[in-house]
Amino acid sequence: KTVSPTGRTEREGLLGGDPRAQAGDHLTTAQGLRLSDTDHSLKAGRRGPSLLEDHHLREKITHFDHERIPERVVHARGAAAHGTFVSYGNAASATKAGFLADKGKETDVFVRFSTVLGSRGSADTVRDTRGFAVKFYTDEGNFDLVGNNIPVFFIQDAIKFPDVIHAGKPHPDREIPQAQSAHDTFWDFVSLHTEATHHVFWNMSDRGIPRSYRTMEGFGVHTFRLENAEGETVLAKFHWKPVAGVHSLVWEEAQIAAGVDPDFHRRDMADSIENGAFLEYELGLQLFPDTEDETFEGIDLLDPTKIVPEELAPVQLVGKLTLDRNPTNYFAETEQVAFHLGNLVPGIHVTNDPLLQGRLFSYVDTQLTRLGGPNFSQLPINRPHVPVNDNLRDGMHQTAVHRGLAPYLPNSIDGGGPFTSEEGYVEIPRTISGQAVRENPASFDDHFSQPAMFYHSLTPVEQVHIIEAFTFELGKCYEQAIKERELEVLAKIDTGLCEAVAAGLGLPAPAGEPVAHGPLSPTLSQIPAEPGPIT
Ligand code: HEM
Repeated sequence: KTVSPTGRTEREGLLGGDPRAQAGDHLTTAQGLRLSDTDHSLKAGRRGPSLLEDHHLREKITHFDHERIPERVVHARGAAAHGTFVSYGNAASATKAGFLADKGKETDVFVRFSTVLGSRGSADTVRDTRGFAVKFYTDEGNFDLVGNNIPVFFIQDAIKFPDVIHAGKPHPDREIPQAQSAHDTFWDFVSLHTEATHHVFWNMSDRGIPRSYRTMEGFGVHTFRLENAEGETVLAKFHWKPVAGVHSLVWEEAQIAAGVDPDFHRRDMADSIENGAFLEYELGLQLFPDTEDETFEGIDLLDPTKIVPEELAPVQLVGKLTLDRNPTNYFAETEQVAFHLGNLVPGIHVTNDPLLQGRLFSYVDTQLTRLGGPNFSQLPINRPHVPVNDNLRDGMHQTAVHRGLAPYLPNSIDGGGPFTSEEGYVEIPRTISGQAVRENPASFDDHFSQPAMFYHSLTPVEQVHIIEAFTFELGKCYEQAIKERELEVLAKIDTGLCEAVAAGLGLPAPAGEPVAHGPLSPTLSQIPAEPGPIT
C-alpha cells in the first residue's frame, strides 16, 4: 500500500494503483502469459528478419502506438491534485446542497488547473487565462464547478466560442505562436468583438501571469440559482479565495521561467504537496435576490462579461478546500478527468446565461471524442463516490458487467427498479416564453464601463504593467489597422493609457472620450475574518 510523504495512505480503489493491472512479480502479456524476454524480437536466425508470429512484439508496439488520446481542444495543458473540501455549515439558508450543509462536512475533490490556449507541452507561465476546474465527489453525486482565474469571459454567447478560440490559437499556416495572445487574429477578434474588452484587461493585467496556482483566485463566472430546503431561491456567483493571497509574476520573470522551467507551476504544486505545504482556498458566495429581471444594482447577472463589485455584494465564505495529494498517474487522472457544468446537485441550478447554456452542450460532446465514447464516467477519476444505478448500457469501452434483463422503466421483470424518487434532483419550474430571436438584451451592449472600472481600481504600478503588456502584445501584430482599432478601444477606457500604448507602438493616439465608470473596485476583498451566517 502506498503511503504519501504526508503519511496519508492512498484512498481505496483504483486511483491508488489498479491491482488488476499491476499484480504479481512477473512481466506478462495483456493475457497474463508470463514472459521470458522483452528485449529481443523473435527472428529467423540471429541475423534474420523479425517474425510476424511474435505476439509479444506486436502487442507491445501496437499498444504503444495507441497510447495518446487527443488533447483537450482548449485547456490542453493542465496539472491537478486531490483534496478535501470542508463546509463551514453556514450556507443552508441559500442552498440545500448536502456538501455545504453541516459544519465540518468533508467532501473529496479533484482540481485541475490549466492554461487555455497552449498545447499539452506548452509553458506554464505564459500570459493567458487559467482554468480552475473542481470536481466535488459529494454524497449526492458529482458537482463540477468549472471556473477560471478571471471572473468574466471574452464573449457573451457560446455560439462565438469556436471563433474566439480560432482567433486565439496559433495561426493555421505556421502554428505560431504557441500559447500567447500576441498575434493578429487575437487582436483582430477582440477589437471587433468589444464585449471581450473586460476579459482582455484582466489578461493584460498581472492576473494574466499568476505566480503559482496557490496564489490564484477562482471564479465560477456565471450566475447560478441556488435553492434552499424550503424551495426559496437566490442567485449566486461562486468565488475561490486563495488563503496565500493573490500574487503574480512580473513579465520578465514569466518569460525567464517559461524558458528555464516550462513546468514552473505544475512543479511548484507537486513539490509543495509532496513537502506538506498544501494549497488552500476558501469557497465564497456572492448572493443576489432572485428577481424577475435577474439584475443587481443595474448589472445584468446573465451577462458573463460583467462582475458584481464586492462592495455591492460581499463574498461570503462557506467552506475551505485543501489540496494535499498528488495524482498517482497523470494520464489516468489529470488527462482523463472530464468536467461538465451539467454535473449539478440538489440546491444548485443553472440560469439562462447564453454562455452557460452553450457550455452545457459542449463539454460532453467534446469528451465523447476525447475519451473515446460514452462510458468515460466509468473511468476511476470520473466515477462518483456514491452508488451509481443508471440504465445506460453498452457502448465503446464499457467496463461494467450489468445484471438483469430490463434496463428501462417501469419494468415488470427486474423487480421494477431502479426507482426514481422525489428526493432526486428536481429542476426549478421556470416559465419560458418569448419570440425565437438571435438578439441580445440591450444591457449586453455596455462593453466598456467595467473594464474602465477595473483599470481605475489598479495601483499605479499595476497600471504601468498593463500599459507595458498592451504595448508588448499589440507590438507583435503585423497589421497596423488592427493596432489602431484596439487603440480606439483603449481610448474609451482611459486617455493616459491609450496615449502611453500608442506612444509605445509609435502610432498617434486616437481622439475619444473615455466612458463613465463607477468608483468601485472589483479586486477589493471585503472578507470577514470569521465566516458568519450568510445573508
Ligand atoms: C475546457 C472553463 C467557456 C468549451 C474548460 C476547462 C475549464 C473551462 C476550466 C478545463 C477543464 C479541465 O481541466 O479538464 C471555462 C469557463 C468558461 C468557458 C470558465 C466561461 C465562463 C466555454 C465555452 C465553451 C467551452 C463557451 C464552448 C461553447 C470547452 C471545451 C473544453 C473546455 C470543449 C474541453 C473539455 C474537455 O476536453 O474535457 N473550460 N470555459 N468553454 N471548455 Fe470551457
